[in-house]
Amino acid sequence: MKSILFIFGSTGGNTEMVVEFVADLLRQKKYEVQIKRAEMSGSKDMLKADVVVLGSPTYGHGLLEDHMAKFARAMKDIDLKGKPCAVIGLGDPKYEAQYHIEAAPDLEKAIQGSNGKLILPSLRISGAPVMHLKGLIPHWTKQLISKLV
Ligand SMILES: Cc1cc2nc3c(=O)[nH]c(=O)nc-3n(C[C@H](O)[C@H](O)[C@H](O)COP(=O)(O)O)c2cc1C
Repeated sequence: MKSILFIFGSTGGNTEMVVEFVADLLRQKKYEVQIKRAEMSGSKDMLKADVVVLGSPTYGHGLLEDHMAKFARAMKDIDLKGKPCAVIGLGDPKYEAQYHIEAAPDLEKAIQGSNGKLILPSLRISGAPVMHLKGLIPHWTKQLISKLV
């Protein structure tokens, strides 16, 4: 079974909740899952897992959460050599389109800039994640699992 590492930033707990939820679904399918906060991680941690999922909310008009922003900057120093990766981005629909869930494309760019391979479209959560625990989030997790075989 593949090992999956989640690295996330979260100020208010929403991203943490989504990451924990997805990770639980993967554990139920017997995947080996590890979860780390961005502030407790180094970019080289990404090299240790078979698959890496990065998660961040959007803050400050289209920016990554602070710890994840620092983490993403440090990714310039690593070569992911085609490692399978995925992204979870959060945001709020009250923000203008150019800022809405910009965390997702920001993380996608960081992964591609380090030669990582995005294995499916990013999970984009708009508004309270609790609204998506029965639909979007398990649906995306199923798609992720289908890419892990
Ligand atoms: C000060 C502040 C700035 C925010 N800026 C944005 C933004 O630019 N774009 C967006 O889509 N959401 C924005 N959001 C919404 C957050 O991304 C959203 O509430 C998210 O679920 C928070 O995740 P967290 O609880 O993991 O920190 C902002 C929220 C706050 C409080």
